[in-house]
Amino acid sequence: MLLLLMIDEVQPGMRLARTIYDPSGRPLLFAGVSLRKQYIDRLRDMGYSGVYVSEGKNDDIEVSSQLREAIKASATLAVQDSMKKMYLLNKTNKALVEEVVRLMVDDILSQPEVVVELIDIKALTDHTFGHSSNVAFLSIAIGKVMGLERSKLIELGIGSLLHDVGKVYVPEDILNKPGKLEPVEMDKVRQHTVEGFESLSRLGSTQITHVAYQHHERLDGSGYPRGLNDKEITVYAKICSVCDVYDAMTSDRPYKKAIHPAEGLLLLKSEQDRFFSKDVVNSLFRVVAPYPIATMVQLSSGEVAVVTDINSVDVERPVVRVIKNSEYSFYDSIRVIDLSKEEDLEIVRTVHWTEVIEFRNRRMRRDLPHI
Ligand SMILES: [Fe+2]
Repeated sequence: MLLLLMIDEVQPGMRLARTIYDPSGRPLLFAGVSLRKQYIDRLRDMGYSGVYVSEGKNDDIEVSSQLREAIKASATLAVQDSMKKMYLLNKTNKALVEEVVRLMVDDILSQPEVVVELIDIKALTDHTFGHSSNVAFLSIAIGKVMGLERSKLIELGIGSLLHDVGKVYVPEDILNKPGKLEPVEMDKVRQHTVEGFESLSRLGSTQITHVAYQHHERLDGSGYPRGLNDKEITVYAKICSVCDVYDAMTSDRPYKKAIHPAEGLLLLKSEQDRFFSKDVVNSLFRVVAPYPIATMVQLSSGEVAVVTDINSVDVERPVVRVIKNSEYSFYDSIRVIDLSKEEDLEIVRTVHWTEVIEFRNRRMRRDLPHI
């Protein structure tokens, strides 16, 4: 059975179900390897938030994202290269960035429905670069849902890929500080929007530069650097800001743990209209899978199931395989349910693997005879 587990839930001996790549696209651990404690510790140290593992029998679910993985690695390198050039030579690698964004746009346009599974493995090392390519992918997918044409998707993609380039001027110890930032440090971080805007101005398109400038602005005027309101913020910046926050919430950071996509989506929904554009948040719900394939969930019946397929028309009601009863005992036979066709049944929450282990341990302790 394929499971998507947060890193703290992975147990030694579980088999890796999907190759893990480092931020530059090189394989770190191949699918099929048995995970030893030191591998798990190393992945945790490197900041990986989750992995796909195989547990027990019925290991027949496939997660294919090889092409996207390769494009994402190229995008990550393009951001890395642009930031380096900006720091040393005061210019970006425009040709490389454009080339990579074209690949991203064509990848997304080539698919009838785009459901992005962004909970996948993210490295904390080189965080800004990996984060930027995630944000660009998501922004383009949302732009597509909102009906933007190809040339506009490319502009949006370039702006989103480079939205944080100004961070190259923020000292690393501030960016990676685990604790709360002092006001003076916070000012330095906030300055990345202005630095990004000024550096990108040489690219020509104001639409692109304003993504860097405005992606921390909020509809109610509470954002920075200028406290713009709804009408003053560009559509591209509104899209990028939602994707930026969503990806940040669902990734491990030095100062906080990742939350599950379903929780991230609900949090954004609760802040729509006040901080974020409702249209953009609604579009995000159409492109992100709140319950990615291999996520373990609890149904309203109390049973535990694993997501095996995503319904692109209703991402909140995927196809699931019921594996356990409400007592966390495995069923002998497995039922597959398409939740989009079962109105009486719904997902109530995601289940962590540690809960299953804890429940089993508690039951074993209870069943042990007292001596
Ligand atoms: Fe930013």
